[in-house]
Amino acid sequence: MRLGVTQYVLLLAGGFAQLIAQTPPAKLPKPLADAAAAANAAGYVGSGVCKMCHPDVWQNFFRNPHYKSLASGKEPPDRTGCEGCHGPARRHIEAAGGKTTIPVAFSLATPRKVLDTCLTCHAKDYSRADIRRSPHSQEGIACNSCHSIHKSPVPKFLLAKRQADLCYGCHANVRTQFSMPFKHRVNEGFMNCTDCHNPHGTPAPTWRMGLRPRMVSQALGNEEPCLKCHSDKRGPFAYEHPSVRVDGCEVCHNPHGSTNAKLLRRTSVFTTCLECHNGAGTFGRQADGITLQSPSHNMNSPRYQNCTTCHIRIHGSNSDRLFLR
Ligand code: HEC
Ligand code: HEC
Ligand code: HEC
Ligand code: HEC
Ligand code: HEC
Ligand code: HEC
Ligand code: HEC
Ligand code: HEC
Ligand code: HEC
Ligand code: HEC
Repeated sequence: MRLGVTQYVLLLAGGFAQLIAQTPPAKLPKPLADAAAAANAAGYVGSGVCKMCHPDVWQNFFRNPHYKSLASGKEPPDRTGCEGCHGPARRHIEAAGGKTTIPVAFSLATPRKVLDTCLTCHAKDYSRADIRRSPHSQEGIACNSCHSIHKSPVPKFLLAKRQADLCYGCHANVRTQFSMPFKHRVNEGFMNCTDCHNPHGTPAPTWRMGLRPRMVSQALGNEEPCLKCHSDKRGPFAYEHPSVRVDGCEVCHNPHGSTNAKLLRRTSVFTTCLECHNGAGTFGRQADGITLQSPSHNMNSPRYQNCTTCHIRIHGSNSDRLFLR
């Protein structure tokens, strides 16, 4: 068999790589041997030597927020630079590379291992206190499903994609909701999913009896995030409409988008109201049913069907028990 030049070079290179891989530490190329020898007791060698074989990663790293710890030089070795995430690399250096010789190779890591690795430093952040029991973690969606440490295309938060595209990648049905005639303008870039959600998980909400958290983040301590922007809707009012606080905004509104004006869940205002004000038992302050409209209301008259033309302060009022002003 005759070898072309290319094959010949490849064969040589392959043989050389194999040779390096099998060489005991003493015979390693000097820079590697030096680095391995300089490792501390826990096996940390420092980031400098990584440059030799991972120049692309290394050269982009100064732009990474994680570079700070590397630059300061004051952090302990397990909190510094490349090995802060990938683990002590002495064995990797002694073997001159390989996926299985580095303690944390993310291409091989389970979601659990990814979480554990990132949380060695990030567990102290309050916003991630709930991450282990968040629906994302429970479905095996770990940090690197949403963040890209070395190849993030966006300037902030090392996201793997622009935020809405990132979330739509797995939540396609939500895109449809934000394309409805009435909607919050997320697709237009005025708002983000994270104005209302915390993808890292949230504590149980204080509204809707703590059920169905949906990773909806909390504002002002423990209120619905809606109040960050619609603070007038929650009072405090002298006369509350109990459903606003107890059930939460979503009992009447679709938070993403709706085919109905004002993001209502129902096609009209009065069907929204009659869902509760229908005389059915056990609701209400006295558990004897929510007040029915009084007999003065003629439901056959179109005038009465738009309840909020009279009950204008439907979210609560400071001057009228019936929200008429
Ligand atoms: C002598 C060259 C060499 C040096 C020095 C080196 N590596 Fe590697 N590294 C490799 C090779 C080869 C691979 C295997 C690549 C493959 O199989 O795709 C690798 C793989 C890795 C991987 C696994 C990537 C993955 O998820 O598949 C990580 C992480 C890594 N190196 C980190 C480091 C760090 C951190 C340092 C510095 C402490 C370092 N390397 C130093 C050659 C080197
Ligand atoms: C904050 C944690 C973190 C730090 C610090 C870090 N890496 Fe990584 N590294 C990752 C993650 C996560 C991946 C998986 C791919 C991704 O998410 O971008 C990765 C992937 C890699 C890979 C596989 C090839 C690739 O591009 O996907 C290599 C090689 C690597 N890292 C080397 C390094 C080197 C060298 C340094 C220091 C300059 C370093 N890493 C610092 C988290 C980190
Ligand atoms: C489902 C997607 C997703 C997952 C999984 C995820 N993140 Fe995030 N992360 C985001 C988004 C989106 C932002 C940007 C938040 C914003 O715009 O306010 C962010 C922001 C951050 C920030 C900076 C801002 C802040 O909130 O403090 C850190 C740090 C962070 N994430 C770390 C992590 C770690 C560590 C993990 C795994 C334990 C993780 N993330 C898992 C989507 C995710
Ligand atoms: C060795 C400690 C350490 C580990 C491990 C670590 N981080 Fe970080 N991370 C930091 C530090 C320090 C910062 C910078 C915080 C600052 O600037 O205030 C940071 C910042 C971030 C940010 C915010 C970036 C921004 O633009 O503000 C994100 C996102 C992030 N880390 C994600 C991760 C992910 C995902 C992992 C696991 C792959 C991880 N980190 C592992 C120490 C760590
Ligand atoms: C205006 C606030 C707001 C914004 C912005 C928002 N959400 Fe929501 N989202 C909510 C609320 C509130 C719920 C809970 C609804 C309920 O319990 O009835 C929810 C529920 C969800 C659910 C679970 C319910 C379902 O329909 O399966 C997913 C998934 C979701 N949102 C994803 C997203 C994504 C992705 C984005 C960004 C593209 C986003 N959300 C933006 C407020 C918001
Ligand atoms: C890699 C896929 C993936 C990405 C990316 C992703 N999610 Fe999810 N998300 C899931 C899975 C899987 C679930 C759990 C099953 C379900 O409820 O659909 C979930 C559930 C949710 C829920 C509902 C939680 C509940 O209690 O039912 C919300 C809200 C949510 N994600 C918001 C987001 C937001 C906001 C982003 C972007 C920052 C995002 N997701 C990115 C896969 C993903
Ligand atoms: C980040 C700020 C912000 C948050 C958080 C927010 N909204 Fe909004 N909301 C707006 C803006 C701005 C508009 C005006 C519509 C537009 O042009 O985007 C709006 C419009 C609305 C409307 C329709 C008003 C109309 O006249 O058609 C309703 C209803 C509404 N929001 C309810 C909610 C609910 C419920 C939540 C919580 C799940 C919420 N909003 C969270 C900013 C916010
Ligand atoms: C009992 C049902 C109900 C609940 C609960 C409710 N709303 Fe409304 N909301 C309505 C109705 C009905 C309208 C339409 C009023 C009209 O016809 O103009 C409306 C209108 C709005 C509007 C647009 C008009 C305006 O006044 O600015 C916003 C914004 C809004 N609601 C936000 C909220 C927020 C935020 C919450 C939770 C704190 C909430 N709503 C809870 C029934 C409700
Ligand atoms: C999620 C259930 C719910 C919805 C939807 C709802 N309400 Fe109520 N509403 C209540 C409860 C509970 C009370 C407290 C009355 C009681 O305890 O009997 C109340 C009280 C009232 C009161 C004061 C009556 C009184 O005796 O104190 C008026 C007026 C009222 N609602 C009008 C409306 C209108 C108009 C709508 C539609 C825009 C509406 N409500 C939608 C649950 C609801
Ligand atoms: C034309 C104005 C007007 C419209 C439209 C209207 N209301 Fe009223 N509503 C009133 C007035 C005035 C009162 C107090 C006097 C009375 O009981 O007739 C009242 C009282 C009520 C009460 C309290 C009854 C009680 O016994 O305390 C409820 C509940 C109520 N309305 C619900 C509704 C609902 C639901 C709608 C829409 C289907 C609606 N209203 C439409 C004017 C209106």
